[in-house]
Amino acid sequence: MNAERVSQGSYWLETAPAGAPAPPPDADVSVDVAVVGGGIAGLSTAWELARRGREIAVLEAGRLAAGVTGHTTVKLTALHTLIYDHLRRTRGPEGARLYAQSQNAAIRHAEAIVDELDIDCDWEEAAAFTYTENPQSVQELCAEAEAAREAGLPAEFVTETELPYPVAGAVRVSGQAQFHPRKYLLALADGLRRRGASVYEGTRVVGLTEGSPCTLTTEAGVSVRARKVVIATHYPVFDRALLFARLSPRRELVVAGVIDEERAPRSMYITPEQSTRSVRTAPLSDGRRLLIVTGEHFTPGTADVEERFERLSAWAKARFPEVTLTHRWATQDNDSTDSVPLVGPLRPGSHHTYVATGFGGWGLSGGIMAGRLLSDLVAGRAVEWSGLYDPRRVASVVREGGAFLKHQAEVVRHFVGDRIPPLTGLAPDDIARGDGAVVRTGTGQCAVHRDEHGQLHAVSASCTHLGCVVAFNRAEKAWECPCHGSRFAPDGQVLQGPAVKPLKKRDL
Ligand code: FES
Repeated sequence: MNAERVSQGSYWLETAPAGAPAPPPDADVSVDVAVVGGGIAGLSTAWELARRGREIAVLEAGRLAAGVTGHTTVKLTALHTLIYDHLRRTRGPEGARLYAQSQNAAIRHAEAIVDELDIDCDWEEAAAFTYTENPQSVQELCAEAEAAREAGLPAEFVTETELPYPVAGAVRVSGQAQFHPRKYLLALADGLRRRGASVYEGTRVVGLTEGSPCTLTTEAGVSVRARKVVIATHYPVFDRALLFARLSPRRELVVAGVIDEERAPRSMYITPEQSTRSVRTAPLSDGRRLLIVTGEHFTPGTADVEERFERLSAWAKARFPEVTLTHRWATQDNDSTDSVPLVGPLRPGSHHTYVATGFGGWGLSGGIMAGRLLSDLVAGRAVEWSGLYDPRRVASVVREGGAFLKHQAEVVRHFVGDRIPPLTGLAPDDIARGDGAVVRTGTGQCAVHRDEHGQLHAVSASCTHLGCVVAFNRAEKAWECPCHGSRFAPDGQVLQGPAVKPLKKRDL
C-alpha cells in the first residue's frame, strides 16, 4: 500500500466530524449518575438512564466516540465468531442462550433508538457470517451453527456466500445490522443533552473516592459528586477488583477502500483462524461502497505494525483486486480470560460503582447491551443476564485458568524481562527520523523518539500504569505498553488507558 496516498485515520471519524468540543466543567458538579467514558458503552448507559429521568454527567477524556468506538469495524451482530460452542461447553446451554438473547436484544434496541431519534446513520440490515477457507475448520463451524441455533439465533451452516472467492463452509445468522457508529453516537449525545444531561469532553478523570456520594476528581482538580458511578473507559481506569489480571489488550488493523457497488459484499464476514480476517462494506455518497477489511491482531508494543499493514493490504487486494485502498487505521480491544465481557459492579461489595469492559472485539452489541444492563442495575432492577456478565464471577475464571495464567505469564515476562538491559542497546544517534526506541541512560531507560525534523524527544520508558516498559509503534507514532495496552503520544501524553498520567519528560 502506498502510505502517502492513503488516509492514516478512521473513516468514521473523517466522515462524521464533531463540532467544537464540549468544555470541561469549570466548577464542582453534583449529579445522580456520573459516566466516565464517552464511547458506545458510556453513551448507551447515559442514554438509558437519562430517559428514565436521571440527572447525568458524561466525562470523556478526549472527544466523544473518537476512541475505540470511532475506530471499530462496526458489525452489530450477536454472532461473535465461535462463541456459542465455547459457551455451551463452559457456561452451559443456559449461558449460551442468555448471551444470544442479550446480544440480539442490543441490536433490536439500537434499531428502535435509530427509529425513535430518526438518526441518519446508514443503518442496514445484514446477515453475519463466520466462514473458513480451510476444510479442516469446517467441523468447528458446524458445531458453532448448531450451538448458535440452540442458543436461539437464526443460524445455519452454509457452503455458499457472495464472497468473490470460495469458502469451505460458514455459519450464517440473518437479521443482524451494520451502521455508522459516529453518526449514531453523536446523535445519541445530542439526545442526551436535550434531556438535560451534561456532556463534558477533554475531561480526564484521575481520582475516584467511593462512598455516598462517590467523588470523581478531574485532572483539572474539579470534583464531580454522584450517587452512582459507571466506569466505561474501555480498559477500566479505576480497577479496584484487579480486573487487569483478567483482560488481555489486543490491537487490530483496518484497511479500507472503494469498490464498485455490484462487486461489494452486503453481508458481514469474519474468519475464526488465529490471524482473523473480517470483511464488511459501507455505503458511499457516490453510490459505490467502502470495503472494510480488518485483521492482523497483536499485543500492543510487540509487532512490526507497518509489515502487518502491508500483509493485510495484500490480502484485501488479492481477494478484491478491483479495490482502491483509501484508508488505514487501527483499533484496540480487550479480551477477557473467559471470553465474556465484564459488566456489573466494579468490585465485590461495591454498591455505587459499576464497570463495563472486556468486549473482545464485539463492543458494539456489547456496549449497547452494557448500557441496558448497567442502567437496570443502577435503577435496582433485576436483569436475567446480569449473572452471565458479572465481573465478580469466579467459577468460569477458575475453569479458564489456562488463559488467565498465560496472560499473567506474558505480563510477568514484560515486567521482568523488559527491565533487563539489551546486550546491544541503541543510542539516540541510532534512531532514524520518524522512529523511536528505548535506550539506556544514566537515569534509567528512556523512550526516545526522533521526529520528522530530526528533533529528539525523550520521556520515561516506564508505563505510568504499573511500570512495564513501553515500545514504539512506528506506523502509528505511539509508545505502547505490552502489559495492559496503555498508549502514549511521542511527547508522553496519554492516548489510551488504563494509564491516566503521561510519561514523564526526560533530558537526554
Ligand atoms: Fe499496565 Fe502499562 S498498561 S503497566
